Amino acid sequence: MSAQTIAINASSLSKKFGDLLAVKNVSFKITKGEILGILGPNGAGKTTIIRLLTGLFKLENDARIEIFNKNIIDNPNEYKLNYGIVPEVSNAFSDYTILQNLKFSAGIYGISSKKEIEKRSMKLLNQFDLMDKMHSKTKSLSKGLKQRLNFCLALIHEPPILILDEPTSGLDPMSTILVRKIILQLKKEGKTILITTHDMHEAQNFCDRVLILNKGEIIADETPDRLREQYKTPSTILFKFESESGGEKLGVDISDVQKTDLKNSFNIGKKNEYYVLSSNNAIKDISELYSFCSKSKLKISGLKIVDTSLEEVFIHLIRNSDLANGGEIK
Ligand SMILES: Nc1ncnc2c1ncn2[C@@H]1O[C@H](COP(=O)(O)OP(=O)(O)O)[C@@H](O)[C@H]1O
Ligand SMILES: [Mg+2]
Repeated sequence: MSAQTIAINASSLSKKFGDLLAVKNVSFKITKGEILGILGPNGAGKTTIIRLLTGLFKLENDARIEIFNKNIIDNPNEYKLNYGIVPEVSNAFSDYTILQNLKFSAGIYGISSKKEIEKRSMKLLNQFDLMDKMHSKTKSLSKGLKQRLNFCLALIHEPPILILDEPTSGLDPMSTILVRKIILQLKKEGKTILITTHDMHEAQNFCDRVLILNKGEIIADETPDRLREQYKTPSTILFKFESESGGEKLGVDISDVQKTDLKNSFNIGKKNEYYVLSSNNAIKDISELYSFCSKSKLKISGLKIVDTSLEEVFIHLIRNSDLANGGEIK
């Protein structure tokens, strides 16, 4: 298969709950092997899109979903064969042990050979570090362990596509790290992954592409890097002198800095021992800063550059979209 094989092609997805249009004419494609993030605040419509995508809600009007080029209306089994789903609310049976849940799930997917079920279960329990818990009842597990089981259940039929609805939401930091590691590992194995999140870092760190969703509408569809580039705000440069009072000792303080060429480029402020500059050209401005310091016999002992984060882009886009729709800026 070529790198450009389309795993999912969804077009014109919409969903109404009474008067609320929760998803508005949403279309997107996911390339095989890609991690696509759907990023949006609570209530944006992420779970509703997943439910439309996975057949839990009926498609209406012109909505169409193709999985590996097969229209699912004519091929409803394509859902079952191709998707592994980690839903918002787990569908594991709480009175079953981990192993019983795995066996039950394998049965749903039509895997009948006991040997095969055993083999796949052991492989997954190993991969997700659940071997010593296989006979524990699901209800006795911590949230992190339960989520690992949910991944096992989603993978028992070895699907090529994984659909993860906020998989790290509500997990403790250690479990979050583990789940993120697992997702990256699954990408390495060649899985196509759709993940919803309201966590900017998650989107920034491992999505190849991000759809930003607000009030049921896609307001951006880009790689995290291009989004940051497109909506770039000035970088922030923070620097400090060798000793905190070094500048003052040498008779050079912030007002001296402002008398130099730097005043054209920078709005200089101070945050604890750091001077804070806002710069549209960080490399040029840092070089000017060093030549100023050299002339003034000042030594810089700390320098940090903070670039536009996806979080800022996200807030900017959501605000603009709310404003365009007559909403209030919060
Ligand atoms: N079954 C439902 N009945 C009525 N309204 C719903 C239902 N499911 C979701 N909604 C509403 O649709 C909107 C989108 O919800 P959802 O898709 O769950 O958002 P997200 O997953 O992004 O938090 C919200 O306003 C939510 O209250
Ligand atoms: Mg949701």
